[in-house]
Amino acid sequence: MDVIEAVKKRKSIRGYKSDPVPKEVLEQILEVASHAPSAMNTQPWESVVLTGEVLENVRQGNVKLLNSGTLPNPEHVVTSWPRESIYRQRQVNLAKQLFRLMDIPREDKEKRAKWLERGFRYFDAPAAIILFTDRCLSESGPLLDIGALIQTICLTALHFGLGTCIEDQGTMYPAVLREYANIPESKRIIVAIAIGYPDWDFPANKVESERDPIRDVTTWLGFD
Ligand SMILES: Cc1cc2nc3c(=O)[nH]c(=O)nc-3n(C[C@H](O)[C@H](O)[C@H](O)COP(=O)(O)O)c2cc1C
Repeated sequence: MDVIEAVKKRKSIRGYKSDPVPKEVLEQILEVASHAPSAMNTQPWESVVLTGEVLENVRQGNVKLLNSGTLPNPEHVVTSWPRESIYRQRQVNLAKQLFRLMDIPREDKEKRAKWLERGFRYFDAPAAIILFTDRCLSESGPLLDIGALIQTICLTALHFGLGTCIEDQGTMYPAVLREYANIPESKRIIVAIAIGYPDWDFPANKVESERDPIRDVTTWLGFD
């Protein structure tokens, strides 16, 4: 698969087959992705890769806190989008499309809650990668580097027939990850990636997220 095909083919996968992902494959993905660029080659990232019972414990821990009404407590600022902004509009468009595909009517609170839970369950993927950084680093600096890493992980996963979903939801309850994944307080938990073999019959996987044309967001200078 060439680079352009991979970039265009990658999409967020929110339904997975239960087939386990071999550890060697996950290792290869992380090794390839470690070639992602970082500022001054600082590589300000670490990961834990979860599967099996540990992942199940984390899923249950997350869902328990979610359903108890515990407020999410992410360790980096997860952007909130101003109500009237184009950003909020894009978010709403995505949610509408997912709810339509999943046959979740706006007023069906129970179905909506179940759907929300899925994110906190890593979409029931057979594995999840949790990325974190060291608290001795600035709060925002490593985010750019980890951004490059997560896209590289997702693209590399395609090579192995795997799908991914980058998720803030998976790191909203750091206490759960600290308990079951042994991530020490000295580390700042940033983001999760659900990973596994896509279930193409799962309706939400038919989502086609839109992009605005680059002419709307790009200024060209000095070309003519
Ligand atoms: C930093 C980041 C956090 C995200 N968090 C979530 C999440 O918590 N739940 C979710 O369903 N998708 C999440 N996504 C996936 C985005 O919704 C998705 O990338 C976007 O809608 C574009 O769709 P695509 O990935 O299918 O191209 C996240 C993506 C990024 C980059």
